[in-house]
Amino acid sequence: MPSDATTKSSRKILVTSALPYANGSIHIGHLVEYIQTDIWVRFQKMRAHSCHYVCADDTHGTPIMLRAEQEGITPEALIERVHGEHFKDFSDFAIEFDNYHSTHSDENRELSQDIYRRLDKAGLITKRTIEQLYDPEKEMFLSDRFIKGGCPKCREPDQYGDSCEKCGATYAPTDLIKPYSALSGATPVTKESEHHFFQLGECEAFLKEWLNPEGDAAPLQLEAANKMNEWFEAGLRDWDISRDAPYFGFEIPDAPGKFLYVWLDAPVGYMASFKNLCEKEGLDFDSYWQPGSDAELYHFIGKDILYFHALFWPATLKYAGYRTPTKICVHGFLTVDGQKMSKSRGTFIMARTYLDHLNPEYLRYYFAAKLSDRVEDIDLNLEDFTARVNSNLIGKYINIASRSAGFISKRFDGQLAATLDDDGAKLVAEIQAQAEQIAARFEARQFSEAMREIMALADQANEYVSDKAPWVMAKAEGQEQPLHQVCTAIINAFRVLTIYLKPVLPGLAAEVEAFLNIEPLQWSDVDGLLTDHTINKYKHLMKRIEQPQIDAMLEASAATLQQTRPSPTRHGEAQQTESQQKKRKVAKAETTTPDNRAGHAVNDEIDNTIQFDDFAKIDLRIARIVKADHIEGADKLLQLTLDIGEEKTRNVFAGIKSAYSPAELTGKLTVMVANLAPRKMRFGLSEGMVLAAGPGGKELWILEPHEGAQPGMKVK
Ligand code: 2FM
Ligand code: ZN
Repeated sequence: MPSDATTKSSRKILVTSALPYANGSIHIGHLVEYIQTDIWVRFQKMRAHSCHYVCADDTHGTPIMLRAEQEGITPEALIERVHGEHFKDFSDFAIEFDNYHSTHSDENRELSQDIYRRLDKAGLITKRTIEQLYDPEKEMFLSDRFIKGGCPKCREPDQYGDSCEKCGATYAPTDLIKPYSALSGATPVTKESEHHFFQLGECEAFLKEWLNPEGDAAPLQLEAANKMNEWFEAGLRDWDISRDAPYFGFEIPDAPGKFLYVWLDAPVGYMASFKNLCEKEGLDFDSYWQPGSDAELYHFIGKDILYFHALFWPATLKYAGYRTPTKICVHGFLTVDGQKMSKSRGTFIMARTYLDHLNPEYLRYYFAAKLSDRVEDIDLNLEDFTARVNSNLIGKYINIASRSAGFISKRFDGQLAATLDDDGAKLVAEIQAQAEQIAARFEARQFSEAMREIMALADQANEYVSDKAPWVMAKAEGQEQPLHQVCTAIINAFRVLTIYLKPVLPGLAAEVEAFLNIEPLQWSDVDGLLTDHTINKYKHLMKRIEQPQIDAMLEASAATLQQTRPSPTRHGEAQQTESQQKKRKVAKAETTTPDNRAGHAVNDEIDNTIQFDDFAKIDLRIARIVKADHIEGADKLLQLTLDIGEEKTRNVFAGIKSAYSPAELTGKLTVMVANLAPRKMRFGLSEGMVLAAGPGGKELWILEPHEGAQPGMKVK
């Protein structure tokens, strides 16, 4: 990739995400990658580069063949159905492929067979006879996962052919005690067969050169390059690329009954999907795939399939006479609430289950807020998810529009002012000045940094709103013009922030474009101002996440799991889910600290109705503020020492610095939530929260009881 990639006028970019298998549904673990890639692609398109994003279903192999058999349908019928489901899931998450194809396609057959021939011609294919376990009833060879038996180490029965789930031992399937075919139950026999191998070892010098190109940017992140070096040290072994019939895939040219292993034709599926797009749109396939091509080629993948993409794939391309990838962008796995996603623990959330309960753009935003350019796992912490979406996305960003739009439509007939006030012009210019910095973050896939920087700008905009207090101006005499200018500045700040967030939140950005009555926003639209222009009436753009939505999604996930995989540990899972839900319910109160609520609109809707029992869970107490202190390095928090009639005082960090000085608070009585789980914060442990009202900034008022109330009294 050229070093001036972010600024080069028009780049030619081809992007892929890993092809999902056609025998399972898309889950939120998959979505980390598709969302990451889609954000990057949308960013490139907004920068006016030529960028194509292709993908396909990975349709070949024994598991798909067997599943179709189980369902009593042909593999073709199965993959067609799944293709429709996958495509719908992706579309509903706003993942916008330029082409979503299938590896079971004419283009892929031609390309895969041709690549095999070219590798053979280059002298890289060798044939050897190997011994494998064979199911005499099903008349097929068995891969390790279709052989079961007793663990040779701990003797646990019914273990898979490669490793024991109980003791973790790894072994060859031939070592199993009383092995049997998981397909028919028959005792497997050993049988010989000739296999075709790709001699990867012959490609070592090329691969090392590709990994460390002279002058150009390296194709792999440091962690991935280190892994490659480990593999080089261990020695590159020949790769078995054939499978015997019966197999759902493509036959190897001139080798009847022998099929290309799915992992050979899957990455070729990237090319095939693009070829199909070229045919539809008249693009020049060769100009992307010939050696020396001026196009950039990016593959986004998970760390588990690095071996296939960083060793086999570049070697396959090189020796078949094609260009090699510009970059392989590797990401880590998703954990949920700090644990590996696991069906047995019930934390597998299917894309569709999520969509049944929550707005897809919440997840896009949350993943963006967590993703970096490192190969590291990211955690979907459901409390943090709710808190970030509600306090950042809605409380900070959306709130900017909702705090000014009403005045524009009610007082100025939807018309923006011709000019901004000085402070407003300065604010908008400061937000605009960050465009290249934020673009560089997107380009480098440092999305979490980009989100942090954008939210810092949203904070600045909210401070301007609080300082100017348009709701006060609106009531004052003769403030018509300043009010008009201030609201116009706010709308302009919101417009620029929308450009920055558009790769992440395309649906929301489209609604903003409709509200602002403007053409689809491009990155170059950052400059300039929206003045003397009529906007539409503001409709609320995004709802807050409510805990019942999360609870319902978790319950639905658990129910799906129970239907599909009855498991002896199910009871335990149900209990865990319930207790997690309880924990989350308590945590909700914590996420609505004054700090987080700083940006709420004054006219927030009344929350869902709760029962008295729900309210009774919150232990509210009268507290005396014994001491209030500034905290070094904290912009928003004050440290409060509270007396609630206990032996020891409580330490609470409250986000009220924008509205109060410590001196104003010391000695005052207020109300605190006394049974909130303590929260570890950067500055120490917070042991509860005080209650305050108001939209934020200077407009915050802590609650104060009437005279006579004493510290420790229960508020009921
Ligand atoms: O790991 C998987 O889900 C594979 N189906 C990915 C294939 S990516 C590419 F090589 F096609
Ligand atoms: Zn064992």
